Amino acid sequence: MKILVTGAAGFIGSRVVARLLAEGHEVMGVDSFDIYYSRSQKEKNLMPVLLHPKFKLVEDNLAEMALVKVVKGTEAIVHLAAQPGVRGSWGSSFHRYVTNNIQVTQKLLEESKANKLKRFVYASSSSVYGDIAPPEGQDVAVLNEETACKPRSPYGVTKLAAESLVQLYHQEYKMPTVSLRFFSVYGPGQRPDMAFNRFCHSILHDAALTIYGDGKQVRDFTYVDDVVEVVAASVTSDAAVGEVVNLGGGSPCTLMEAITMLEEISGKTCAKTFLERQKGDVFSTRADITKLERIFGAKPKTALRDGLVKQWEWMQKFVHAEDEEQAIKAQVQPITGVDEAVLAEAKADEKATRKAARKAEKATKTKTTESNN
Ligand code: NAD
Ligand code: UGA
Repeated sequence: MKILVTGAAGFIGSRVVARLLAEGHEVMGVDSFDIYYSRSQKEKNLMPVLLHPKFKLVEDNLAEMALVKVVKGTEAIVHLAAQPGVRGSWGSSFHRYVTNNIQVTQKLLEESKANKLKRFVYASSSSVYGDIAPPEGQDVAVLNEETACKPRSPYGVTKLAAESLVQLYHQEYKMPTVSLRFFSVYGPGQRPDMAFNRFCHSILHDAALTIYGDGKQVRDFTYVDDVVEVVAASVTSDAAVGEVVNLGGGSPCTLMEAITMLEEISGKTCAKTFLERQKGDVFSTRADITKLERIFGAKPKTALRDGLVKQWEWMQKFVHAEDEEQAIKAQVQPITGVDEAVLAEAKADEKATRKAARKAEKATKTKTTESNN
């Protein structure tokens, strides 16, 4: 199949690309290398696939480009490009969430409609649910796809708006869509704003871990390869068409339990700084994955400890390489951003100095000749 993957250089996107190529598909990736986090991490994400003969990368912004360039001739779209991040979605950055999450999705849906695609897979989020009160007598709510969505963050609002658009195009245009609600994804390549990446970073630099709230919040952490597996299956499986499906790891735990595991894995006990709960952060996400199992006949298989071992191994190499790069950059004189006027002045000074030296040399020679005569 010819598949377009948006957000191809991102954490999840780059791994989806690798998986689809391994399955023999022809993949075109689009990514704007958004400034939300470093270009160098995204370039590293893409290294394993860049030279693959069936992979083509288009660096462009989906909000601005003519989509026909990448959609025409495509049979399926896996739409992962977005402005992610729950806690940063307040305030002046909200326009980025509206553009990259809502408007880009609508634009892609319109283009897909015109090109009669066989599949449109949308990366939705557990953030669409918000904080759901548990039923009486239970500690936490188990979220199933019928649960009413009340997002608690601006990010969640935009992911829900885009998911609703996807459902509308399915209803009105019979577009073969699938929306997968990912739950806090982790593993090698994780975004630098996310909890485990930040914790590993702190452990490696012997710094205190910053914990928002009391650390008792629950997350249904999902290993990236388990997400990739379902995304790849949803491109070809007809059973998922028109559906919204939870994609949670299946073994939720509190943040403190996950931190204890990381401490055991790294062999280090860390200092912890507790800060106030961040606005937009929900208390608990616990996915009901009955529908996922029914449709795909499988469920996520990576235990949190095993996944954390893999992320810790990756982080050690990644942070080491990053630190080395920083050390080299710190020693190199800046080459870019040189003020042209300053440069011209320096050249003029140098010329004048050379001229003065030549003049002085000539004068000395003349004096010597005169005294010899
Ligand atoms: P990511 O930031 O690593 O990847 C997103 C990519 O999209 C980035 O490389 C970015 O440059 C690109 N992008 C953003 N706007 C673009 C635009 N206008 N044009 C072209 N490219 C653009 O994020 P991720 O964690 O890999 O998330 C991928 C998707 O999964 C997102 O839709 C996110 O909302 C969703 N999701 C992620 C998680 C998670 O835990 N990581 C959980 C739920 C849902
Ligand atoms: C994650 C992703 O960042 C979102 O893009 C995604 O849509 C969402 O999952 C989802 O499942 O829908 P989040 O659950 O906040 O959001 O994931 P993390 O960033 O890994 O945070 C997990 C918890 O750790 C949060 O309660 C957060 O406040 C906390 N945290 C994070 C800290 O205590 N300290 C930190 O340094 C970072």
